[in-house]
Amino acid sequence: MTIVVSLPAEDKTEWWCQMLRDLLPDWRVYPIDKVTDPDAVTYAVVWRPATGAMRSFRNLKAIVSVGAGIDHVLADEQLPLHVPIIRTVGTDLTQRMKEYVALHVLRHHREMPRIEANQARQQWEQIVVPPATQRRVGVMGLGNLGAAAADLLKQIGFEVHGWSRSQKQLQGIKCCAGDEGLRAFLDGTEILVCLLPLTESTRGILNADTFNRLKPGASVINAARGPHLVESDLVEALDSGQIAGATLDVFPVEPLPRSHPFWTNPKITITPHVASLIDAPTGSKIVARNIKTFEETGTVTDIADAKRGY
Ligand code: NAP
Ligand code: GLV
Repeated sequence: MTIVVSLPAEDKTEWWCQMLRDLLPDWRVYPIDKVTDPDAVTYAVVWRPATGAMRSFRNLKAIVSVGAGIDHVLADEQLPLHVPIIRTVGTDLTQRMKEYVALHVLRHHREMPRIEANQARQQWEQIVVPPATQRRVGVMGLGNLGAAAADLLKQIGFEVHGWSRSQKQLQGIKCCAGDEGLRAFLDGTEILVCLLPLTESTRGILNADTFNRLKPGASVINAARGPHLVESDLVEALDSGQIAGATLDVFPVEPLPRSHPFWTNPKITITPHVASLIDAPTGSKIVARNIKTFEETGTVTDIADAKRGY
């Protein structure tokens, strides 16, 4: 019973190893580069494993993604696709995403970027915005995170629309589904929030066609994955005024390179992939519990569908 851990930073990997050893005292837990017997490895706890790394463990029972997304795991072209991938989700992650979405939707709703720019110029301009009840917010993706964020926005008072692959029934939220529901969902949306998983169908979905459907002067919040956004289309839409402002938490290359023009675009707010980072003590408990349950029962609730991509 051996677990390997492969996370982007060495200190993070060490920390997770120690935490999992404490929580699963009967197991051997190693950083991936310290494994001496690959055939003994039955679980891998990973963020973005190196290409081919998972294939080298022939007796792997499950791969645990330290996060809700699995696109970073599927990025390994040699991934053994028969091995289940367990997502790490929970109320902690959902709570954090709700806070992030509420903060940034309200920020756009109440025109805070303009008010902050006015302050820098010592300019007193009373901007009257409509109440939330007259502001339409569209949430793309109605899974664990999207549905919870949409519900909170509804409680704040916004008119909330949601879009998913399969049709949902969520009280007080106008739900649309599939390619055929996308137009109706986008038309008239004033603040668009992306909480989709990154798959071949959703890559580049935040593009010029999408932006042009929104109400002129709309705002966009991407807290999902960087490649959802066509960056040049966003810049064009910001320059034309079709999009008034954007909040971006995720980028195709992270950390966002210092030379990237988004850093200095006054219409873009950048957050460094912090919308909902599971904290390590909570995350390691969820991971340990999932591994235990999977070992005992052969399944857990949060298994992703690798074919579907999320
Ligand atoms: P989830 O529970 O798997 O939900 C995904 C939602 O997206 C589902 O409602 C699904 O529809 C919908 N969807 C998938 N493909 C679609 C398509 N082609 N068209 C329309 N709807 C589609 O995922 P989650 O836990 O909410 O997480 C969503 C994503 O957030 C993750 O994949 C990750 O990339 C990102 N994330 C970011 C952070 C951060 O800190 N920035 C933190 C956590 C997660 P169905 O319900 O019909 O399947
Ligand atoms: C974070 O981005 C996650 O997928 O949980």
